[in-house]
Amino acid sequence: MGLYLKNCWYVAAFTDEVTRTPLARKLLDIPMVFYRKEDGTPVALVDRCPHRFAPLSIGRLVGDDIECGYHGLRFDCAGKCVSNPHNAGKALSAADIESFTLFERYGFVWIWPGEAALADTATIPHFPYLEDDSTWRVLRGHLEVKGNYQLVSDNLLDLTHAPYLHPGFKMPGVTPEQQLAATTTSVEKTDRSVHYYRHRNGLPPNQATIDLFGFPAEPAISRTHMHWYPPALIDFDNGTYFEGQAEMDGFCFPQAHCMTPETEITCHYFFAAARNLKIDDPAIDDALRGVLNTAFRTQDEPMIEAVQSRMGNTGDIEALGPVMLKTDAAPVMARRLLKQMIADEQAGEIGQAGETGQAGEARQAEIAAE
Ligand code: FES
Ligand SMILES: [Fe+2]
Repeated sequence: MGLYLKNCWYVAAFTDEVTRTPLARKLLDIPMVFYRKEDGTPVALVDRCPHRFAPLSIGRLVGDDIECGYHGLRFDCAGKCVSNPHNAGKALSAADIESFTLFERYGFVWIWPGEAALADTATIPHFPYLEDDSTWRVLRGHLEVKGNYQLVSDNLLDLTHAPYLHPGFKMPGVTPEQQLAATTTSVEKTDRSVHYYRHRNGLPPNQATIDLFGFPAEPAISRTHMHWYPPALIDFDNGTYFEGQAEMDGFCFPQAHCMTPETEITCHYFFAAARNLKIDDPAIDDALRGVLNTAFRTQDEPMIEAVQSRMGNTGDIEALGPVMLKTDAAPVMARRLLKQMIADEQAGEIGQAGETGQAGEARQAEIAAE
């Protein structure tokens, strides 16, 4: 079991995945079931009936409640066991289960696995390009990666892998060494974020940009700015334009990359990539989908999974003593910041763990008295 930051927003699903058909998804080692109330509000409960541990996700919805498919205990959307059919349909508070705080924005269902009273939606990063379809066309994807979630943020925060792992992003006539030499980078850190800026000047756009948008193979300016927020949310601003041109007249390709642990060594990787050019052209959708699939699914994902296979059953690469390169600055800063936040949270939670134990004993006592 991994140690995770609890008081934090994670992406649980795309909004259209949560429907009136229960969706089973494990997040942070917790099996969860997601569904919508009749008014459309999303619900998340622990996906394990406390009676014989049947997954509630294979039960059925009754109005806003979910009924276990095994012996019929029924739970409301706050996790209260509102009906025990084996005791005249009375509520059974000893069988109450945990529910989770959700919030929908940017096409994502966000989940706050920690203390509900601390959930503050203002801490969700801003992705304005995901909610303005007059300017942007958004493509979304979901990968289930057999690797720790931080291996994915490491991958994004260190783009020096691009010329080696993503040959499709190469520039005509430019070697990986020339590409790295023409790139300048800087990193900044706050107490809750890491910002990594890459700029490249004087090289042509990459081949994919030339092919998709008909850009000339002439010296261009390109930027990739990455803003990392805990636990593994990256606002990735990528663009290419020419000297004397406004950024928005070039190709802008901002992306949200949101990684959520499934277990310590597997994760959900949700991405949403927006573009400002040819936004009504389905052929560009297909081509860009192909570019993203090639890069993320056939290059990054297998490499991350291969790395995880060499790490064994731990998600903590730092504990294995990796050699560090200068280019690891941003991923290492993000990892250390998250590690500190988790340690601080754990230190403050000792008292709450005791309360959970007492609640468990009370539940047993109530069942015995019934
Ligand atoms: S396992 Fe759910 S009611 Fe028995
Ligand atoms: Fe990559």
